[in-house]
Amino acid sequence: MPGLIEFRNATYRIGERTILDKLTLSVAAEETLVLLGRSGSGKTTALRLVNGMILPTGGELLVDGKATANSDLIALRRSIGYVIQESGLFPHFTVEQNVGLVPQLESWAPERIAARVREMLQKVSLPPDEFAQRFPRQLSGGQRQRVGVARALAADPKVLLFDEPFGALDPVTRLDLQREFLRLRAELGKTSVFVTHDVREAIKLGTRIALLDAGQLRFIGAPAEFLACREPEARAFLEVFEDAQ
Ligand SMILES: Nc1ncnc2c1ncn2[C@@H]1O[C@H](COP(=O)(O)OP(=O)(O)OP(=O)(O)O)[C@@H](O)[C@H]1O
Ligand SMILES: [Mg+2]
Repeated sequence: MPGLIEFRNATYRIGERTILDKLTLSVAAEETLVLLGRSGSGKTTALRLVNGMILPTGGELLVDGKATANSDLIALRRSIGYVIQESGLFPHFTVEQNVGLVPQLESWAPERIAARVREMLQKVSLPPDEFAQRFPRQLSGGQRQRVGVARALAADPKVLLFDEPFGALDPVTRLDLQREFLRLRAELGKTSVFVTHDVREAIKLGTRIALLDAGQLRFIGAPAEFLACREPEARAFLEVFEDAQ
């Protein structure tokens, strides 16, 4: 069965530089594929290909069987929830307005938006009566990331993309949000691509791990297989992991 997201020899070049080189991988429904790699390995570029912010310069990227190059890109982006580091919330919108953004763009009725916003805030453990009317600057970093997750989930997207969403948080808050992610995944069964350069986070959250190195896929497999992988770039990451044990 084809995956919900398919990279088929997907290549992305800027001028003479190859940022992603013939990437082929498939993300199955309800899977969390973690993209692991050092800074500059092409992780964010891969996410941007999925939501059609950029189009492959070679090969194809399919979402739900349809090549992004032939898709309505606005509709595609609204069907995908995107969570980034520092949450990417609009500073002049309240929490409620931020979470309701895509439903608003999709012209949902106001009562339906309000109900959905409350539901989503509860899901990410932010009581709406306390948080809905605040502005992002009135939240802690961890709370902002929760709002970012609520916003990504609000329009019930098929696919969620996470770009180092917990990278800037203290370790305790980070663990909290990782647990929340696993709980929400069990509850909602969403398909996600999750970018991190933290090998422990990759092992904890990934149903599979894809290791990128200088735009190339070096490994893809379950966390247990990754732990046994002999590939040099995988070993480099695993040494960090073993060092921390
Ligand atoms: N618009 C652009 N113009 C030129 N080079 C770019 C552009 N976007 C990305 N790159 C280059 O492509 C490479 C991959 O970038 P990308 O942002 O995908 O890396 P990353 O794996 O997400 O890194 P990080 O962990 O630091 O976020 C980098 O070397 C980057 O400098
Ligand atoms: Mg990046």
